[in-house]
Amino acid sequence: MQIYKVGGAVRDRLLGKAVTDIDWVVVGATTEEMLAKGFRPVGADFPVFLHPKSGEEYALARTERKSGRGYGGFTFHASPEVTLEEDLIRRDLTINAMAEDDQQNLTDPYHGQRDLEERILRHVSPAFAEDPLRVLRVARFAARYAELGFKVAPETLELMRQLSASGELQALTAERSWKEISRALMEDQPQVFIQVLRDCGALKVLMPEVDALFGVPQPEAHHPEIDSGLHTLSVLEQSALHKQPLTVRWACLLHDLGKGLTPEEEWPRHIAHEHKGLKLIKAVNERFKAPKDCQELALLVGQYHTHGHRALELKASTLLELLQSFDVYRRPQRFEEFIVACEMDARGRKGLEQRSYPQADYLRGAANVARSVAVQPLLEKGFKGPELGEALKRERLKALKAYKESAVP
Ligand code: CTP
Repeated sequence: MQIYKVGGAVRDRLLGKAVTDIDWVVVGATTEEMLAKGFRPVGADFPVFLHPKSGEEYALARTERKSGRGYGGFTFHASPEVTLEEDLIRRDLTINAMAEDDQQNLTDPYHGQRDLEERILRHVSPAFAEDPLRVLRVARFAARYAELGFKVAPETLELMRQLSASGELQALTAERSWKEISRALMEDQPQVFIQVLRDCGALKVLMPEVDALFGVPQPEAHHPEIDSGLHTLSVLEQSALHKQPLTVRWACLLHDLGKGLTPEEEWPRHIAHEHKGLKLIKAVNERFKAPKDCQELALLVGQYHTHGHRALELKASTLLELLQSFDVYRRPQRFEEFIVACEMDARGRKGLEQRSYPQADYLRGAANVARSVAVQPLLEKGFKGPELGEALKRERLKALKAYKESAVP
């Protein structure tokens, strides 16, 4: 049997990037030979094994045939006769379809190295269409390597367009899609992921609520970029520039969905878009089974981002309601994530990327003030049950009024 390093490990070494996990392909071997060498099978009828010591994945060279719709619809053919070239041709991109032996000799039948040099994301063969998840993968690689100047090849974009139009994307499971989406959002340029999905028509299928923002104007005074879709891309870009966690990036992507529902006669204003957007945010959250913390933050940011921007003008009572809605006493981190999401929203506007955002520290201060109202003195005065809650609220309000007077001249 011959063993080759394949896929991302070869690509990233040639790009001079750190290699994290290594995939191997085994040519000329049978399942029985692998088991005899101590490899552990990954699944009952899938020709992939884990190395007994390193735990790395070793796959028998295989060809794949699509036998139906969706991810289940695959049949595999693995046998000692399958060649390295046959295994490589079923892979997604030429830059992912190179193999290397233990002497670092490259096998590159589909010119992955040339495409690496020319910064092109190009599909290997029509077999690309056998897995619709690849539409998301290409968009993710475009986001990851945007900084190096990589672009999707026109013929690959065309194939992605056909796949998006064919209804195949609907067959993807929430889990597989979310894995790609969440990884893509954590890249340095997640806005490129959304842009590429939009360019090939996949955004309309996967997140029509986000797609609908493009072409919807906002008032130029607050939004020099005017377009709501472009604004969303900029907010997402800011969240990555500021190294925000996934929760914040997800909330940034979804914060303005309500603007897509505004009747054209009302443009460029978007009255109550915060509230109108909630059902759309919920729908996207559930479609991809986003983790609970992502879902929660997206809904809260959707509902309250305008409050964040108007923080310095809010009455003390409204400020208190805002803090209560976030359960800022038990969930301080979530409120902090809300604050930074608002800041990204304020900066994700053309020409305003460097603006200061005094609302952030003002809100942090307000949260500290509300949190530092002590319960003990109220207990000592004999308050309990609902009365204690009311008394605590009154004290917090008093403290917030004093805070507002001292902080806002
Ligand atoms: N692959 C593919 N189609 C997919 C998934 C994977 O063709 N839907 C192939 C590609 O050759 C890829 C290899 O399997 O390089 C390994 O896949 P994976 O580990 O998911 O990705 P990597 O390319 O290693 O990239 P990453 O750095 O994102 O993990």
